[in-house]
Parts: sequence; structure tokens; C-alpha cells
Amino acid sequence: MGDFVGQTAIVTGAAQGIGRAIAAELASQGANLAICDLRSEKLTAFAQELAASASGQILARRVDLSRAQEISDFVREVEERFARIDILVNNAGIHPLHAIEEISDEEWDLVLAVNLKAHFHLCKAVLPAMRRRRYGRIINISSEAGKNGGTIAALHYSASKGGVLAFTRNLAQQVGSDGITVNAICPGRIASEMSGSVTPEENQRFIDKSIVKRLGTPEDIAFAVAYLAHPRASFVTAETMNVNGGTLRD
Ligand SMILES: NC(=O)c1ccc[n+]([C@@H]2O[C@H](COP(=O)([O-])OP(=O)(O)OC[C@H]3O[C@@H](n4cnc5c(N)ncnc54)[C@H](O)[C@@H]3O)[C@@H](O)[C@H]2O)c1
Repeated sequence: MGDFVGQTAIVTGAAQGIGRAIAAELASQGANLAICDLRSEKLTAFAQELAASASGQILARRVDLSRAQEISDFVREVEERFARIDILVNNAGIHPLHAIEEISDEEWDLVLAVNLKAHFHLCKAVLPAMRRRRYGRIINISSEAGKNGGTIAALHYSASKGGVLAFTRNLAQQVGSDGITVNAICPGRIASEMSGSVTPEENQRFIDKSIVKRLGTPEDIAFAVAYLAHPRASFVTAETMNVNGGTLRD
């Protein structure tokens, strides 16, 4: 398949887990990729792997998404290198497991900065290029926790993911007439480092509650992203797609 040949996609948090699978999926369909993460060694190794098999070009940069300047420098470099940005996938996220009493102001601010404010900075930075070409696909990775509040003590995480949903709907109505869609995905529990930090019992509870009786895979989310990123998904916007094996049904 080459549905994204000639297009450029930014994927954040692509060194591992869901972001890595999203980047691999878009690259396998011919996209040029601009990937970023805090973990530069892992990201570079992945970029080298991708470059060996993908037909598109790969740009990989260490970016700390809690720093606005690093985001704008990264997006400027992507524009200079590829002259267009078609797809933005806001995927990176953090999920510290702390009860409310244990959450410091600093930790609260960091979770909101990475999980929500970075979306604002990235969208603001890519929108001029998307508007100029009257085309864009923005996909924000939220969470089931953004809808139901979550089942694990991570108040800031759930608040940030709920914020991503409102952010998605509001931005969608601001940019729709410019040919830009903005959608969110709410993954259920996905096998990754993040879900590895909760207890096996907690993950088993998710599996028991699901219809398909398994955790999700990063590839399950990547496939949903590829659909929302597709040029033919032009009538899908302000939507939240559950990819959760049937746990939360709404
Ligand atoms: N795994 C799950 O069960 C699950 C469920 C629902 C939603 N999600 C969401 O999916 C997304 C990806 O999660 P994952 O499971 O792959 O997690 P992960 O922890 O495996 O990967 C997250 C990536 O984001 C990067 N990152 C963290 N802080 C960053 C920063 N300041 N700047 C740049 N990069 C940074 C990390 O280095 C890491 O590579 C997250 O937004 C997460 O909230 C995951």
C-alpha cells in the first residue's frame, strides 16, 4: 500500500510503544516521517531501522515536548526539510501512578504540559502550513481514561486526556473549512511500557471486561491512525474513536 506517498507525517513519542507502531505503519504506506522523542538513542535506532525498509525519508530528533521552543524548532526544521506537513499525530504521553496526596505541583504541570499543552504548541506550529495547502490530518491520542476517568490513581493523566477530547472537538470546528480534520483516539489498555507499569491483576481486570479478551497492541492503534489520516477520511472530524476491545461502549 502507498496511500501516503509524497505526504509528510509528524509522530511524537515515536521511540517505542504506540508511537513507534504508528510511525512504522505510516512509513510502510510511503509517508515521509518526522519523528521525535525524549529517548534519543532508541529513536535513532528506530529511525535507522525504518530508513532501511521505508521508501519515504525519515527525520528523527530529540525533542522535549514540555518545552515550547523545542517544538517550534522541530516543526520549523520539518517544514524546511519536507516543505509540507500533512499529518500530525500527537501521541507522546506520560502516566505517573500517584494518588492525589502524592502529586506535587511540578508533577501536575509536567503531565499537563506533555499530554495536553504540547498538543496546543504542535497544532499551532503546523496549522499555517496545513492551511496554506488547505489540507491536514491531526490525530490526538487520548485514552479511555479521558472518558471514564480511568481505573488507576492518576488524576492528572485522566484530566489531561479528558482535556484532549475537548481540545480536539474545539479545534476541529476552527479548521474544518480549511480541509483539516481533527480527531482523537481513545485506546483501551495497550501492551506497552506504560501498561507494564500497572499490576498484572489490573491488566487482567481490563482483559476480563473486554469483549475480545486481550490487551490491545500498538498496531491496533496504528491501524486506526492510518484510517483517520487517510485522504478519504475527509468527512470524519471532531470524532473520538474507541480502540478498546469493547470495554467502554459509548
Ligand atoms: N498503553 C496504554 O495502555 C495506553 C492506553 C491509553 C492511552 N495511551 C496513550 O498512548 C500514547 C502512547 O503510549 P504508550 O503506551 O506507547 O507509552 P510509552 O510510555 O511506551 O511511550 C510514550 C513515549 O513518549 C515519550 N515521551 C514522554 N515524555 C516526552 C516528552 N516530554 N517529550 C518527548 N517525548 C516524550 C516517551 O519517551 C516514550 O517513548 C500516550 O499518549 C498514552 O497516554 C496508552
